Amino acid sequence: MSSSGRNLYGGLNQKIDYVFKVVLIGDSAVGKSQLLARFSRNEFSIDSKATIGVEFQTRTLVIDNKTVKSQIWDTAGQERYRAVTSAYYRGAVGAMLVYDITKRQTFDHVSRWLEELRGHADKNIVIILIGNKTDLGSLRAVSLEDAKEFAEREGLFFLETSALEALNVETAFLTVLTEIYRVISKKTLVANDEADAAGTSNLLSGKHIVLTGQGQTSVGGKYSCCMYS
Ligand code: GTP
Ligand code: MG
Repeated sequence: MSSSGRNLYGGLNQKIDYVFKVVLIGDSAVGKSQLLARFSRNEFSIDSKATIGVEFQTRTLVIDNKTVKSQIWDTAGQERYRAVTSAYYRGAVGAMLVYDITKRQTFDHVSRWLEELRGHADKNIVIILIGNKTDLGSLRAVSLEDAKEFAEREGLFFLETSALEALNVETAFLTVLTEIYRVISKKTLVANDEADAAGTSNLLSGKHIVLTGQGQTSVGGKYSCCMYS
């Protein structure tokens, strides 16, 4: 255990310092599940089926010498297949809001997704806007400038990706995870200072979310999580 005392131990005795829950949102068929497949397994499927309910994949990586397990949740863009919204967002510290650069409507709906996010998720959630399918550049219906401008106005990170060509996918996920880490480690420092000043050993008074559970789950499936705030 490190001094934080909040470590989890994964398979093979791997020490996990943090578990970050990140949610994927956006219209149906924009490529959420394939971005996740690319990030978690380096796979891509052209005949990907629409997601029904909720599932998640994990990937463990090292950020700033800390072992971070990312737990990326994926749900259906189609309203009728979507799981109970508040449960999906609960405990999420990051969100990836995806649209398809070849489908204008999916970009027009981004503000609705943002509203939903702001209505249900933690207000400090780290958000990245993602324009996917850059490999279909000849069919582009959303300009890079429009999307950039929108992202700047809304205070979002922004990247264009191709799950098919594995372009920027790693960078997109790492951008979110690194920013979450930055925010949380900053809060940990502040919390430590406050604890020192108060002469207590309480380490984390900043928002620190740790989730446990591995592999996939579905609606009503088993997962557990704990939130420290
Ligand atoms: P829902 O689960 O219904 O919300 O959709 P989704 O956002 O998860 O979309 P999914 O990942 O299933 O992809 C939809 C279709 O787009 C599939 O045919 C994918 O193969 C295709 N697709 C996903 N990413 C890319 C990409 O980067 N480029 C291209 N050309 N096709 C992609
Ligand atoms: Mg899907």
